[in-house]
Amino acid sequence: MAIIRCVLVYLITLCARGQSQVCPNTVVCSCSDHIIECHDRGLTSIPFFQQVNHVYTELNLENNFIKTIPADAFKNIPDLSPVFLNNNSILCIDEHAFRGVDGKITRVNLAKKKLDKISLIPWCIEHYIEY
Ligand SMILES: *[C@@H]1O[C@H](CO)[C@@H](O)[C@H](O)[C@H]1NC(C)=O
Repeated sequence: MAIIRCVLVYLITLCARGQSQVCPNTVVCSCSDHIIECHDRGLTSIPFFQQVNHVYTELNLENNFIKTIPADAFKNIPDLSPVFLNNNSILCIDEHAFRGVDGKITRVNLAKKKLDKISLIPWCIEHYIEY
């Protein structure tokens, strides 16, 4: 009986793992464990992320040409922290850019040398940015 229970638990775990392989964006990103990798993809905007049944905590968007972070950009990835945005062309961050992840995001990493180009950083996300 104990063996059957063990096998069942093992199979259920396998199924759960299978689901966890679903990446919120398979077009331009790849996923591993809890990390979504979308760096060095020539992106000019934040890609769409679909809701998946797996916790992703880290999003790497470094080395792209992203100019704006629109409202609700990460709403389908609610457990994010941090978001890496080094070496992009960020000019504008919508004040609702991090809506849905508010209260959990502790780190938004923007390259310091690009910060002088940001015309407006809403007060609400200022303290998330790492200088
Ligand atoms: C910044 O991103 C561009 C475009 O991907 C890349 O060519 C360049 O090497 C990157 N710069 C650094 C310092 O990583």
